[in-house]
Amino acid sequence: MSFQNSVASYPNRGNYGKSSYRGNCTGHIIRDFCESYLKTGGLLVDPSIGGGTSQDVAQAMGINFVGTDLSQGFNLLTDDLGGFVGAEADCVWWHPPYWNMIRYSGNQWGEEANPWDLSQMNINDFTEALILAMMNIHDATKSGGYYGILMGNMRKQGKYYNFSSLIERVAPARLVDEIIKVQHNTMSDSRSYNGKLVRIAHEKLLVFKKEATAALYFLAKTMNRLEQGLKLTWKAAIRRVLQTQKKTWSLAEVYEKIKPFAEQKENEHWKAKVRQTLADERYFKRVDKGVYELVA
Ligand SMILES: C[S@@+](CC[C@H](N)C(=O)[O-])C[C@H]1O[C@@H](n2cnc3c(N)ncnc32)[C@H](O)[C@@H]1O
Repeated sequence: MSFQNSVASYPNRGNYGKSSYRGNCTGHIIRDFCESYLKTGGLLVDPSIGGGTSQDVAQAMGINFVGTDLSQGFNLLTDDLGGFVGAEADCVWWHPPYWNMIRYSGNQWGEEANPWDLSQMNINDFTEALILAMMNIHDATKSGGYYGILMGNMRKQGKYYNFSSLIERVAPARLVDEIIKVQHNTMSDSRSYNGKLVRIAHEKLLVFKKEATAALYFLAKTMNRLEQGLKLTWKAAIRRVLQTQKKTWSLAEVYEKIKPFAEQKENEHWKAKVRQTLADERYFKRVDKGVYELVA
């Protein structure tokens, strides 16, 4: 069945793949993904098959399929997925490690940790690896095709890691659907949270549509978006400073207040940035030379 709405719940994982492979996903969500986005006769690709769930779903549905994994020698961070498959994918299914929540190499397979394994990296390398892997997947997908990334969030030592949001922000394509998948029978079900923290009981399937452009072009667009976001952040910060009771502000006073924020940004020209931001007449009024107030 195709997805009926943006929430999916599958109490049983179904008889697909190795159920003993830790961090495996239910085959039902892959089946629904194919029924929603894969055209008849289309090719489905999974670069990280783990315990083979997608492979079994494809077989049961009679779908053309190519699947592999780091455990089989294919590395999404050094090998070109499109070249490996030898044809453009109509859909790609990707279920990456949720950082180091479950370590794969040296644990689920192999004798030792593999440095290319996304579950064996520090957080910065993992973030960069996600961006690179997504570009590889994007370029392996046919124009007009789709890729779905199933991602979970985690809490570690009290810190919340919102990986699904990260995927959304850095993906080189347009998000077309977001499916919240309710988690059943996870390890964390049995942990006690002494009422203080909310137990994470969902994952997200983020579905992207590949337009005619290559991933690198989208990366440039993403960077532009981030720079645009940075400009907005500056504006919000200075508006916040001027929101306080005092009516007018000298430049020196604004500098003083904004300094802790500005220094975090490691921008040595931050005073010029403040003056440039204050020139936006929609929000700031210059009442005298070097004196400003917030536009009411
Ligand atoms: C969450 S598991 C996939 C589970 C699978 N969907 C299933 O149902 O069994 C993530 C997989 O990513 C693989 N992986 C980690 N780093 C990789 C890399 N650099 N290239 C390809 N696969 C990688 C791991 O070996 C692991 O099997």
